[in-house]
Amino acid sequence: MNSFINISDLKKEDLRFIIDSAKQRKSNRGEKQHSEPDETQPLKGKTMIMIFEKTSTRTRISFDLAVKQLGGSSIILNQDEIHYGKGDETIKDTAKVLSQYADIIMIRTASHKNVIEFSKYLEIPIINGLTNQGHPCQVMSDILTFEELKGDIKNKTIAWIGDGNNVSNSLIEAASKFDFYLKIGCPKKYYPNSAIVKMAKKNKCKLLITDDPIKAAKDSDCVMTDKWISMGDKVDKNKKKRILKKYQVNKKIMKAAKSDAIFMHCLPASREEEVTSEVMDGKQSVVWLQAFNRIHAQKGIIEWCIK
Ligand code: CP
Ligand code: NVA
Repeated sequence: MNSFINISDLKKEDLRFIIDSAKQRKSNRGEKQHSEPDETQPLKGKTMIMIFEKTSTRTRISFDLAVKQLGGSSIILNQDEIHYGKGDETIKDTAKVLSQYADIIMIRTASHKNVIEFSKYLEIPIINGLTNQGHPCQVMSDILTFEELKGDIKNKTIAWIGDGNNVSNSLIEAASKFDFYLKIGCPKKYYPNSAIVKMAKKNKCKLLITDDPIKAAKDSDCVMTDKWISMGDKVDKNKKKRILKKYQVNKKIMKAAKSDAIFMHCLPASREEEVTSEVMDGKQSVVWLQAFNRIHAQKGIIEWCIK
């Protein structure tokens, strides 16, 4: 039994198992309908409980489909539907009860500490479906998408342009595990999590953080960005948007990247803020495949968790 909380918690071979198993299952499915189960069903008879303290379109639906395709069933709960969310029960007590009802938990919450606290008392695996600190499921899906289109991510160059947020933190953790070169173009005020950067440097991660977006994008194989204001971001929104304006991914940024570079965004996007519609709807954009691959990457994650 394994939990999937931070990419940095996993060994390189476990992360590779997740990606390869996702690729294999995706290719084996052929033309099956969305809810039709795979040939082999490791979740048969098993249940996943999903708890959402924040809104979600992709994570909610792609996990539900992933569970169905692996032969299991899922129960989706919003924060205000359960005692833990309303503060009427401790995390410890909720964890003990849920361990008897389900085989695996997925949680999307603001506090990263809550996921770790939950995992201490659960007797079943837990998957981090996004916290303010990380979004590891998204990054695994992005690696799957990158490799599907461009081959092995090892030694490739990924550029992250914009806010140093939860997705960028998980991407930093992934860089040293998958051996890619990560260049982050971000204003100093909104740098990624300093503890994660420190750990990456200690792990000899090939990481450049610069406040020059063109330098970050230059010669990259993939340009990524995300919303400037994340869910629950308690900042002066107008000020942050003003500071991030020169980090918008537009034609000029994409021109600095390799001519065959791809553009990625985890979505949802604020068009004309962090990315122009011209780029998002352009030939280099792979955002819809990224969203679709959430199903497949998460199947790999679930399979690894219940191993
Ligand atoms: N990318 C992502 O996690 O999207 P949702 O917020 O819609 O789940
Ligand atoms: N950084 C964004 C990701 C949304 C999927 C957020 O946390 O809101």
